[in-house]
Amino acid sequence: MFTPETSSESSEHYYQSLNEQLAALLTDETDFICNAAQFSAFIMQTLDDLNWAGFYFARDNELVLGPYVGKVACTRIPFGRGVCGKAAMTATTQRIANVHEFEGHIACDAASASELVVPIFVGETLLGVFDIDSPSVARFSEVDQVGIQALLATFLQATTIQWSI
Ligand code: SME
Repeated sequence: MFTPETSSESSEHYYQSLNEQLAALLTDETDFICNAAQFSAFIMQTLDDLNWAGFYFARDNELVLGPYVGKVACTRIPFGRGVCGKAAMTATTQRIANVHEFEGHIACDAASASELVVPIFVGETLLGVFDIDSPSVARFSEVDQVGIQALLATFLQATTIQWSI
């Protein structure tokens, strides 16, 4: 059984420890869906104050729901719509302190108050986005942003990417 070490403090040091634990968790497994599901659960289990964590994958000009942990969510998000669609369209991480002040925010879970969405690229091609939501306003710091980006790099390194499922 894998028991991650957790901490309520999201420091650079904590993310470094998470990255080592994630690399160990994904050792010997390269399957795309399997690792994406594990990654979502790992994030949910090791970061506190989250209510949703998961992937949307790029399919034509929209994002389609992938493996996640949380309440049921909207299945398709056109590029440009909501926080996820903006991250995909602009190829930039969106760290939103208060989603209720973000025009066009898509409320999948009414409990969500802040959100961090990281676009995932393989080379020049957009694979999708990774989205985490918190019920607390301003839950995500720059340390969280850099930390999640580093964890996603470890996920990509361990995984054989499947572009179409
Ligand atoms: N709030 C997101 C939609 C996805 S859910 O949070 C899971 C958005 O505005 O894109």
